[in-house]
Parts: sequence; C-alpha cells; structure tokens
Amino acid sequence: MRAVDIIVKKRDKEELTRQEIEFFIQGFTRGDIADYQASAWAMAVVLNSMTLREITDLTLAMAFSGDVLDLSQVVPIAVDKHSTGGVGDKTTLVVEPTVAACGLPVAKMSGRGLGFSGGTLDKMESIPGYRVNLTTDEFLDQLRRIGLVLTGQTANLAPADGKLYSLRDVTGTVQSIPLIASSVMSKKIAAGAQAIVLDVKVGCGAFMTSLEAGRVLAETMAWIAKLSERKAVALLSDMNQPLGNAVGNSLEVREAIQTLHGHGPVDFQEHCLVLAGHMLALGGLAPDEDAGRGMAEQALLQGKAWQRFRELVQAQGGDLRYLDEPENFPRAAFIETVAAPRSGYLQGIHARIVGETAVLLGAGRAKKGDPIDHAVGIMIHHKVGDHLREGQPLFTIHANQPETLAQARQALLEAHTWSDEPVEPLPLFYGLVKWSDDLQPGSPPTELKQ
Ligand code: URA
Repeated sequence: MRAVDIIVKKRDKEELTRQEIEFFIQGFTRGDIADYQASAWAMAVVLNSMTLREITDLTLAMAFSGDVLDLSQVVPIAVDKHSTGGVGDKTTLVVEPTVAACGLPVAKMSGRGLGFSGGTLDKMESIPGYRVNLTTDEFLDQLRRIGLVLTGQTANLAPADGKLYSLRDVTGTVQSIPLIASSVMSKKIAAGAQAIVLDVKVGCGAFMTSLEAGRVLAETMAWIAKLSERKAVALLSDMNQPLGNAVGNSLEVREAIQTLHGHGPVDFQEHCLVLAGHMLALGGLAPDEDAGRGMAEQALLQGKAWQRFRELVQAQGGDLRYLDEPENFPRAAFIETVAAPRSGYLQGIHARIVGETAVLLGAGRAKKGDPIDHAVGIMIHHKVGDHLREGQPLFTIHANQPETLAQARQALLEAHTWSDEPVEPLPLFYGLVKWSDDLQPGSPPTELKQ
C-alpha cells in the first residue's frame, strides 16, 4: 500500500477501506507518511467527505494510534465534555470543576486553538507553570487523587489526532464533519470517557455555520459513541455571537475566574450550568438535566467549583497567585475602549470576525507552532438585542502592536451591525441530539456533505 494511492482514491471520491485508513493513520503517526501527504489527504476528505463507516474506522484508528485508557478501575463512571470550537468558549474552565465539585470525576483531554476558534490548552497555559502535557501515569494518578484532570493529548493518547489537528489548523482543513467528528471522538475514546456531553456550536463563529450541518455533526458523533458503547448527548448551541464577553487567552481565564466566583456574564454562566446539568445526569448523579443544573448552580454559588478549579491548577503546576489575584496576568501594551458609533439595537456581533481579529492580535496561530500572545484579545461589552446610545463603550481591544490595534478597531466596528428596530436576543441553544432515542439504525446520512 502507498500513501499516494490512498490520497488519489479519496480525491476521486471513492470509499476507503478500513485497512487503507489504518495504514494511513498508523504511517502518519510513526512519521512514515509526511505532513504534506496528510494535508493533501485531509483536503480530499474536506472536499469529498466520508461515509459513516469510514468516519467510524478513522475515529478508531486515531483513538488506537496510542494508549486507550480504561478508567473503570479508577472512577465509577468517567464523564467528559467536548466543544466543537467557538469564539469566547471558555466553558471547560467552569464546567469541569463545577461537575467535579458535585462529586462526579472528570478527566478531560482538550485541544489547542484551531483557526479562528480558541483552544482550552492555550487558555490554561496563560496561567504560568500550568502543565498540559501530563503522562498517562500522571493523568491516572491525578484522576484518582483529586477526580479532576485537564490536559492535552500526550504522545501516548490519540497522537494521530494531535498531529493532524495542528496540520489542519494551518492548511484550511478544519471545516469537515468527518474530520471534526473523528478528531473529537478519538480523543474521548482514548481518554476513556464512558459518557460524553458534546457542545456542538452552530453559527457564523462555528465550524458548522448552519443548524442542519450542526445536526449532522451531532448525529455523527452520537453514532460513533453508540458504536463504541459510550453514552452521549449533543447540544446544538449558538455561536453567532461570542460566548460571554472575553475573547483571548488570559482574558478568558479571568472571565472564567469571575464566573467561578458567581460574577460571570449571564449567558456564559447559564451555558455552563446547562452543560454541567447534562453531565451530572449522564453520569447518574442527577435524575435529569434540570436537577443536574440545580446541583451545578449550588456548587458554583457556594464557591465549591472555585475551590476545585484551584485544586486542578495547583495539581498541574499552575501558579495560584494568578488565580487569586488576576491582576497579576500580564497586560497588553495598548488597551483601548471603542465607543458605539451610533445609537440603536445591536443586530449582530459577527463571532467569526471577532475570532479572526483575536488571531490577528496574536491570540491564535497563523502557522503550525507559532507562539501565542496570552495577553492580547478583545472584550465585547454587549449582546445581540441590547440597546445602546452613541458613545457608550462597545468593545475593548488589548493589543501589543499599534498596527494590529488599528486593524482590530476597524474589523470589530464592522463586526457590530445595527438596527433602529428592537432585535430579539439570540437563544443559547437550538436543540439536543440524544444517543438513545433520536438515533435509529438507518437514520444517519451516509453521505455527510456540508
Ligand atoms: N475540536 C476538536 O477536537 N477537533 C476538531 O476538529 C474541531 C474541534
């Protein structure tokens, strides 16, 4: 078998066999198949999609490219969550300690920023000392000791996804249902999750811009969960405007800290509580998601979630002085608040433009391995539907270069659109896909084109 033949076959819209997929993923993981071949193959998948069988084989090949953890000896049930990527999405930082504070262990392997969407690992690394490269033994030991882990893929856990993910980020191959579904689910399977809450973002600031595409992605992942005997529920959540106010690594960590103290943005806090409620229900600690939401709210308001976040950061080497006094986080050289250019109702805050502007400021990567500037980013002060008067603060830019400051100002003014008529606020969620009842054999599409 040769890598080039597999690339050509996918380029020509043919279905790959399980052996071909395994050959390609194993060769790529070992380094025998070069990055440029993997990039070409990923582009062929973006353009020509995959059948559900190919996606399942790809997911398992990536999951088994390294160790697959069996957590049944460590915790009664391992519950995990995963977002498909959005703008201002710092949900994990709040949900994970909240769920753990309710008594449900959480072991999570997260990713880095991808294109315009931020990544949990980049955010956590803005806390000096915080380690995102735990070994498998450290992962298991920490889960046993404190019931809470937040790390990245190590060389041993889903290494194929780790390599492919960073290539996709810089080769225009992120937006693909087969690649996203297999990337997310391979990490979950490798990390040993038995129940998974999937936060599938839809809207202009998500990789799935339409609700239909989001639903197909959600159903695909739920099917993979079913085939691999995991429980899963997928929420279709709004990503037309940024979640919360902060976009950019340390700004988002600071917003998560505020939320853990009970003073976070209302939309972000509610989003976190709903997700936590589903995790608690899936994990069997709550009779249903509403009861779970109530438990999560108590844990948040009583400060227990905050204490668990401190424990997590301490366990992974992070400097607690930054958590306890967030003003210690490095500040950008230029901090400028831009005023509303007119009075009116906010009709849109284009999340993708906001995410791309954060990348332009240095909060994300233009090419593989680029360093991240943890201090830069944006605070969006309002939500769609708000009424503002001319001159009120609209957004604040944190930049380290005068040129990017000027470009960001222009782009963010354009990202805000206005109406003279009242505008409905955006919903937080559009629906739910459940592993058990919504999915019947034969229901998933076999051609998964976006
Ligand atoms: N999150 C992932 O883990 N992988 C993707 O491809 C997109 C979002």
